[in-house]
Amino acid sequence: MRILLTRKLHKFAIKELKKYYTVSIHDGKIPIPKKELMEKIKNVEGLICFPYDLIDREVIEKARNLKVISTYSVGYDHIDLAAAKKKNIRIGYTPDVLTGATADLTLGLILDVMRRITEGDRVIRRGSWHQIFGASDYVGVDLEGKTLGIFGIGRIGQAVAKRARGFEMNIQYNSRKRLSKNQEKFLGIKFVSFDTLLRSSDILTIHAPYNPETHHLINFKTMKKMKKTAVLINTARGKIVNEVDLVKALKRKIISGAGLDVFEKEPIKKSHELTKIENTVLAPHIGSSSAETRKKMASITVQNLVLGLQKKKMVYSI
Ligand code: DGY
Repeated sequence: MRILLTRKLHKFAIKELKKYYTVSIHDGKIPIPKKELMEKIKNVEGLICFPYDLIDREVIEKARNLKVISTYSVGYDHIDLAAAKKKNIRIGYTPDVLTGATADLTLGLILDVMRRITEGDRVIRRGSWHQIFGASDYVGVDLEGKTLGIFGIGRIGQAVAKRARGFEMNIQYNSRKRLSKNQEKFLGIKFVSFDTLLRSSDILTIHAPYNPETHHLINFKTMKKMKKTAVLINTARGKIVNEVDLVKALKRKIISGAGLDVFEKEPIKKSHELTKIENTVLAPHIGSSSAETRKKMASITVQNLVLGLQKKKMVYSI
């Protein structure tokens, strides 16, 4: 069977794939152009893709022999599920293994924005650190006692809650599905309406999947309901936040800061408006990017593909 990888994976993963299949890999720093993908997908049985590859209806329709799509990600909003289902194509993904890493990064962004770490780093690199210990220099805010609002209480949202408890924060959440009373008690969190989440959180962190319901859920209107001192954190998907509105809200001090690992269109350019705003911390989509996690993701991506092509139960399938 023939396999297409839209980017290189770890050596051990490629070696494993080569044991079973004829493997072709799109090399290079930029994602495989759609035209090339539509050509190459015609003859393969398996596809390994990444969250920035748009596997839409047009692409899937070209795939004459495709049996399995295995994505190196927990998110699968880049794949047209209905089109895949129509062609009986199975889909594997990598949840669970990246939960901790993404939750860690979320806490990292919260701490960074609240305590202005990266901002301070920029001050030093610019050569502008002139006075030490000025009483009101680079003053941030404490996490302790603040209210953390979690939107989306799946695996990652819950892992964020567990970590935030260590910082003695009050934690509230809103999600499509409410947790059981026992789960809420175990996590020490309370369910509130979306409106209350917006109005009363000091930090709002997004952990929901991207879909038509969550598209631009955070926009100027919703941000106007937030506290002026509130911070927005997004490690989920860029399009959940209307970026033009976010820039406007930050410039007009409707909210006080943002920590973002995801953007509407990635990679963002150096000239992007967000890069000109001091009270933002921007990360290049690295939620799952720890050595241990990425290795586990590679392993599961390969296992999903192999099992799927063997018509066996995948480790994680959609
Ligand atoms: C995913 O796996 O969907 C994440 O966005 C990667 O960090």
